[in-house]
Formats: sequence, structure tokens, C-alpha cells
Amino acid sequence: MFEYLKIQSILRSYSVYFSGDTDQLISELKVNNTFFLVDRNVHEKFLSGLLHAELKNVILIEANELNKTPDFCLSLIELMVENNIKKSSKLVAIGGGVIQDITSFIASILFRGIDWIFFPTTLLAQADSCIGSKSSINFNLVKNLLGTFNPPSEIYINTKFLNTLSESDIKSGIGEIFHYYYYKNSDYISRMVSEYHRILADRSLIEPYIQESLSIKKEMVERDEFDKGPRRVFNYGHTFGHALEALTDYYLNHGQAVTIGMDLANFISLNLGFINQLQYDVMRKELEINFPNFRFPLDSFDKYLQLLSKDKKNTNENVTCILTKGKGDLFLYELVFNENNKALVRNYFTSNFA
Ligand SMILES: NC(=O)c1ccc[n+]([C@@H]2O[C@H](COP(=O)([O-])OP(=O)(O)OC[C@H]3O[C@@H](n4cnc5c(N)ncnc54)[C@H](O)[C@@H]3O)[C@@H](O)[C@H]2O)c1
Repeated sequence: MFEYLKIQSILRSYSVYFSGDTDQLISELKVNNTFFLVDRNVHEKFLSGLLHAELKNVILIEANELNKTPDFCLSLIELMVENNIKKSSKLVAIGGGVIQDITSFIASILFRGIDWIFFPTTLLAQADSCIGSKSSINFNLVKNLLGTFNPPSEIYINTKFLNTLSESDIKSGIGEIFHYYYYKNSDYISRMVSEYHRILADRSLIEPYIQESLSIKKEMVERDEFDKGPRRVFNYGHTFGHALEALTDYYLNHGQAVTIGMDLANFISLNLGFINQLQYDVMRKELEINFPNFRFPLDSFDKYLQLLSKDKKNTNENVTCILTKGKGDLFLYELVFNENNKALVRNYFTSNFA
């Protein structure tokens, strides 16, 4: 095991470790008063011999958006209180972003805050969400409406968990990784594009890509932990991507929707004169490798525009998005929602995904 990063958070400093023997670490955490919140799928595939499901402090959770709610979190709190959880107890989250969000939210409100440790098991959680302090819970069918900033005290990454992850979840993680690389103009972009198919087949190759992604994110999280200023550029591809996810009822996974979102942001940047055709084409060729197999339903174009205009990051009737002046040069832009710009967005989908 080695400590790869130490994040200097305003809330508390915490470390990311890479370890090939997470079973040993989990065993050591099996002491009184530790509660394990574990993704049911991960438990079945990796942990049924180690964490017995009948134990009162082992809670198996279905990782889906319907469980990322205040009611579900309160029901878990009720269960743990019945089983004598104390302020000195630790929560251990084992799973992807859903388990992370649930645990981190509970850990911030229970006893006004208790310690938690995270073993991320999806690529998205390992390369992105495990650092950055955010917890997000859905409310009244609005995704991620409630939340807190509450980082874990330790994060342990073991890429063996990725071996059982679906290809779609790997591609989702790759989309998020790409967006950090474009922010930084990392030379890992071309490396990842050339190794793309090998990574899908052999997930042990992915560790350096996770490390690069986390290093880039760490630097920004330490500058703007509460997402009020420069961290907002990490919304690159997300405004357009979120609306696509919602339009397809989440049939498109997050990271591949973001991949299309980045290409659309680049297309708008090209048409508004911020980048030239060659810059667009180079990025397009890289992004294309992670595009989903997808046809845009043109008869739902107005609904797509509505979803865009409702994005929670908008500050007025314009669409607040991130555009590019080239790799490594992202900026916040208020896209006026006039007929020209709407036509531009339509044109993008008609010529690429119709
Ligand atoms: N808090 C944050 O900073 C943050 C950032 C990004 C996303 N998120 C949230 O994360 C969630 C998405 O998380 P995610 O993409 O990590 O996936 P997830 O937690 O939704 O899990 C996806 C699927 O993979 C399964 N799974 C998890 N690990 C596995 C493994 N090792 N092998 C086989 N199956 C496994 C799960 O059971 C589930 O079926 C969303 O709710 C999103 O809002 C949070």
C-alpha cells in the first residue's frame, strides 16, 4: 500500500492510498462500532466471505438513484441507532458514487458529523468522486438537490474491483477522466486514446490514468473546495451532458453523456470563433472513441432545450456552460439562448447523432 495523495481540505486533510490488499484493511476495520455500508453487488462479488451479511453492522445497499434520498438515509440512521451507533463510531463505505453519496450525507448529519472511510469500487468513484468533499442526495425527484461538503478521512483504491464492472461503467468513468485531462491539457489524453481498447479488456492498466485524474482534481479542490470560483470549469461537458442523460431517462450513462457534452461545447466554441477547425477536429477524434451508440430523438429537441435552460448552474435565462479556447484553456460562458444558438445546438445533433 502507498499513500498517493494528501488533500489539504478546509474541512480536514485526508489521504488517498492505493492498495492491492483491501481485504486485509477491511478486516482490520471490523472492530466494535464500525458500520459498513456496502454496495450489494460488490458484496456478492468480493466480500461475502469477509463481511457477513447477517451481522448488525453490515448494511447492504442497492446502488440506485431511488435510494439516494433523505428517507432512505434516515431509515439507515434509524437502523444504526437501534444497533447502538456512537459518535465515536466509524462508517465504512464500499461501493461507487451512490454508496459514497449516501454514506457521506449520513456521516455529515449523524451526531453533527462522524468519521467515514471510503473504498471506491467504480472507475468514476476511483478517478473522480472519491475526492472533492461533495455529497449529493436526490429530493422530490430532483437529482442531487440536497448535499453537504464532507470528505472521508481515508480513501483506499484497489483496481481489482474494476474487473467486474460493466463496460458501460468503465466508459462512464473514462468520460469523466477525459474532462480532467482536457482541463489540464494532459499528455495522458493521447495515451488513453491509444490504449482505450486494451484498457477495456484489461482493467489493471488503468491505475496510472486514475492517478493522473486525481492529481489534476486535487490541485483544483485545494484552490476552490466549495465550488464557488475556478472549480466551476469542471462543469465542462456537464451542462449539455446532464440534459442528455435526463432526456434519455438515464439510459445514457453519465460519463459518455459528458463526452458528447464536451464535443458539443467544442462545436459551439468553434462556431463562436474561440477555436479553429483543426483544434476542433483533433479533440473530436479523441472524444469520438468514447461516444455511446446513440441516436438523438430530434422530435424531442424542444424538451432538450427546456432541460438545458433548467440546469441548476444557470444564473439567469442564459445557459451557463464551459467553453474552450483549446486544450488547457476552459472558461465559463453565458450562452444566450437566442434562435441562432438554439439552431447551432440542433445542427450539432442533426449532423452527428440523427
Ligand atoms: N459526490 C460526488 O462528488 C459525486 C460525483 C460524481 C457522481 N456522483 C454520483 O455518483 C453516482 C454514480 O456513481 P457510479 O458511477 O460510481 O456508480 P454507482 O454507484 O451508481 O454504481 C453503478 C453500478 O455498478 C455496480 N457496481 C459498483 N461497483 C461495482 C464493481 N466493482 N463490480 C461490479 N458492479 C459494481 C453498482 O451496484 C451499480 O449497479 C450518481 O448518483 C452521481 O450523482 C457523486
